[in-house]
Amino acid sequence: MFPLRISALRFAPNGRPILDGVDLELSGEGISVILGPNGVGKTVFLHLIAGLLPPTGGAFDWGGAIRPDGRLAMVFQQPMLLRLSVAANVEFALRPQGLDAAARQQRTREVLARVGLAHRSADSARQLSGGERQRLALARAWAMRPRLLLLDEPTASLDPSATDQVETIIREIRTDGAKVLMTTHNLGQATRLADDIVFLADGRVQEHAAAQRFFAHPQSPAARAFLQGELPWRIAFDR
Ligand SMILES: Nc1ncnc2c1ncn2[C@@H]1O[C@H](COP(=O)(O)OP(=O)(O)OP(=O)(O)O)[C@@H](O)[C@H]1O
Ligand SMILES: [Mg+2]
Repeated sequence: MFPLRISALRFAPNGRPILDGVDLELSGEGISVILGPNGVGKTVFLHLIAGLLPPTGGAFDWGGAIRPDGRLAMVFQQPMLLRLSVAANVEFALRPQGLDAAARQQRTREVLARVGLAHRSADSARQLSGGERQRLALARAWAMRPRLLLLDEPTASLDPSATDQVETIIREIRTDGAKVLMTTHNLGQATRLADDIVFLADGRVQEHAAAQRFFAHPQSPAARAFLQGELPWRIAFDR
């Protein structure tokens, strides 16, 4: 499945290019964070990788295969939760995996405990707060033991404490053996979590670098401008 090599990826619905010539190679380890201005195509990029949108052009090479041979999970910015209990939301997601009911329940208990929602297992998922919903969505993805986890702005609209909890969960999922590819607008979060940064602008990857190097010495003019625009915001509001 890895390295994942993406070449000349294009997404141009109705002839209007959103992504045009995306080249990227991702290893199977660590947390890669996609940064870039609003509307540049970060969410679209995750959907293309997940196979949820058809590319207009380009190719994916999943460690020599045209399809991933490991499990892939995605958590959307607004997670869709079923009108069921917290536990049932996780169990339901495990059904396609061929586990028996006892194994599904066991795995569900495990992941809910790991995201701090064990005590809410029987509650309706629709009653959860934003932070709790996001933790449930992560638990649901984690339960599937993904080899690649795609996260679209997992902490948008969460307060600092909920953000901190979600970041801890993301690190644990990584430690558990998943490659994480995520987007965020929170540059503080990118510095805390990222091993490497994928900077998107003008329809393509302008820069892909180790996180420390990206923040200390951005190479592309677009990345420098982006960081200059964003950093005062980060210093003012980040914890
Ligand atoms: N399924 C789709 N079909 C056609 N166009 C789409 C589709 N999804 C998104 N777009 C368009 O693609 C562009 C990029 O959208 P996308 O949501 O990927 O940006 P983004 O980088 O995630 O932005 P943000 O930082 O605001 O989340 C937008 O102009 C959007 O309207
Ligand atoms: Mg987006």
